[in-house]
Amino acid sequence: MSEHSLNRRRFISASAAAAAMSAARGASSANDEIVLGLIGCGGRGQTLLRAITNLKGFRVAAVCDLIEERAQQGAMIGEQYKPAVRTYTNYLRMLDAEKKLDAVLVATEEGNHAKCAIPVLEAGLHCFCEKPVDTTVEKVNQFTLAARKAKGLLQFGFQRHYVPAFVEGMKLIQTGAIGDVTFMQGKWHWSSDVGGRYLDLIQSGGWFLAQACHHADVMMWAMNYQPPVKCSAMGAITEHVEGEPKVRAENHSALIFEFANKAFFSYTHIMNCCEPFTGEQLWVQGQNGGIDLPAAKLYPRPGMGDTNAYAEAVTHWENGTYEELEAFGNHIRENEKPRIDIEKARLSTLMGIMGRHAMYNEDAREFGMSSVKWDDLGAIL
Ligand SMILES: NC(=O)c1ccc[n+]([C@@H]2O[C@H](COP(=O)([O-])OP(=O)(O)OC[C@H]3O[C@@H](n4cnc5c(N)ncnc54)[C@H](O)[C@@H]3O)[C@@H](O)[C@H]2O)c1
Repeated sequence: MSEHSLNRRRFISASAAAAAMSAARGASSANDEIVLGLIGCGGRGQTLLRAITNLKGFRVAAVCDLIEERAQQGAMIGEQYKPAVRTYTNYLRMLDAEKKLDAVLVATEEGNHAKCAIPVLEAGLHCFCEKPVDTTVEKVNQFTLAARKAKGLLQFGFQRHYVPAFVEGMKLIQTGAIGDVTFMQGKWHWSSDVGGRYLDLIQSGGWFLAQACHHADVMMWAMNYQPPVKCSAMGAITEHVEGEPKVRAENHSALIFEFANKAFFSYTHIMNCCEPFTGEQLWVQGQNGGIDLPAAKLYPRPGMGDTNAYAEAVTHWENGTYEELEAFGNHIRENEKPRIDIEKARLSTLMGIMGRHAMYNEDAREFGMSSVKWDDLGAIL
């Protein structure tokens, strides 16, 4: 979402259920605000903060970044809050010192989520953690075990769960509007090359996992979170790069995921495309029709449904950042499960890791083409 659209959006009022909040909070508080901390004041952390400052029912008390200047930038974004937002460069120190926090947002790099979010849960606080869960099966397992024991609520930043086009589309799929899913087709093509920390495969987990995990999550959702049994994939770095290319995330991937009922998902995630080839596509085809999720379009087979049913149900298309954060507050107040909890987020993340395992040989540090079975991933149940 652009800064412009963030700024022009109206203030969203918090749920009237604020009075019921104290019982549901990990750290109890007598007032009706959710007191927040943030770990990771980079690009996404600052976007989350800007959204929060436009939502009622939250107060940001403290922010943390390893880079002091970024923590200061975070505090500036929250300059409306009294007392002033305190800054930290050590997240454990922040958790220790800030006794009044109810919840913490974690927006560190993909490979630092478990490390930063597990202590938040262990402190009994609610947590909103950016996607994916983390970058390796081991860290996803570790995060899952901690989350299953946690008292606080844990929501992940797969924001399409709060975007009407996807929510309504999934309802149509789950109520049989297109019949049994037979295949899914997707793409995310970009005109730019991979940059920034995505040059570091360890930090990001690879471009497919880091970015296209949003799409893996959508297709896992369409399959009711029944994971794929097998993935065959090809990954490559197609452009010349300076330095060591073997630990650089791929900029070109093509994947096929096969599900237990023989439905499959075929997908390409490609950089350096000419402009007309760019953009997102997420199609779900069933026996009785198809759904284009980002476009909120239902295409029933002739005589098998109403094309308009879907489009009329969807009033706007946004990327869901406000909606997911507003919902995070309401879930805390209402003591209700988030739409995207650890059990769903871990499966979507594992689907992303499965894709990377199929396209990247970690021992040889080489991209190529191979197949991986879900059962061989080593994920806990
Ligand atoms: N849901 C979305 O639409 C969306 C969009 C963009 C990014 N993201 C996700 O948000 C996360 C952050 O992405 P970004 O682009 O903002 O990255 P970034 O590199 O801009 O910011 C990450 C920040 O975390 C800080 N950090 C790392 N470890 C820390 C620690 N131990 N303690 C304190 N601070 C620490 C870094 O110093 C850095 O400033 C990623 O997981 C990314 O996938 C989600």
